[in-house]
Amino acid sequence: MNKSSGGDKHFHKQGFEITRNVRGFMHQLNEISVEFIDFAHQAPGMVVDMGSAFGIATIPILKQGIEVTACDIEQEHLNELILRVPAECRLFLQTKAGSFPEDYNFEKHTIGAILLSHILHFLTPEKLDMALDKLSDWVAPQGKIFIVSYTPYIAPMKDFIPLYEERALSGMKWPYWIVNNIHDYFTGSKEVAENLPDTMNYLDLPSLSKALQSRGFIIEMARYLDPDKNQIPQGVRFDGREWCGVIARQPD
Ligand SMILES: C[S@@+](CC[C@H](N)C(=O)[O-])C[C@H]1O[C@@H](n2cnc3c(N)ncnc32)[C@H](O)[C@@H]1O
Repeated sequence: MNKSSGGDKHFHKQGFEITRNVRGFMHQLNEISVEFIDFAHQAPGMVVDMGSAFGIATIPILKQGIEVTACDIEQEHLNELILRVPAECRLFLQTKAGSFPEDYNFEKHTIGAILLSHILHFLTPEKLDMALDKLSDWVAPQGKIFIVSYTPYIAPMKDFIPLYEERALSGMKWPYWIVNNIHDYFTGSKEVAENLPDTMNYLDLPSLSKALQSRGFIIEMARYLDPDKNQIPQGVRFDGREWCGVIARQPD
């Protein structure tokens, strides 16, 4: 991955940058965000980076002279993003602060490409369903959704995997939902633990693909992301299923 974000100097030695609102970390570009960046010039509508943080995926698109709407729950992240955008690209950037999905209302079929990289697992099951309903309304025909998420298969949460698998087998729709007690299970570093909320909804390919297909999306790609290629932090590596990526297309 060789896209220049303009943000590399900010990265922690483990390859991530701490968010300022206890919402995990901004990571280096991954295979899915690179696909999003590459698709931006042919997107049949607006290009949106939802949960943009400081602009790891937004800035390379702006540098191509393409407009991006960067959205984040944390205004401070968007302020920092604006500072990191080269002056000659700022006219291509729009920012919208708010909590996804409830604070965002795009017009029907106006989004040509939207990235949701490491954001959906912060949503409650109800908000996740609301988010997918809104996406199916917003994304234009032939537009694409690019999703990356941590999965249940991460080393610091390995003690939760049996319960996750039991719930998944029993048919629970969002089987990872943990309310207010992630820290009872988490065995990772203190620095990581301190920057995670206590409630989490890690996603896996079957539930995510099913939820998108049930809303009419065509799954173009759904797979686990290669840990080395995607610079998945060493501390979370488990069995190669740590991150999943999905690209889904709105039919005509
Ligand atoms: C873990 S970081 C990921 C940043 C970047 N997309 C990446 O892949 O590295 C999550 C980002 O999403 C934002 N975020 C979390 N929940 C959100 C929500 N409900 N609505 C909008 N932004 C949210 C956080 O403030 C943070 O900037």
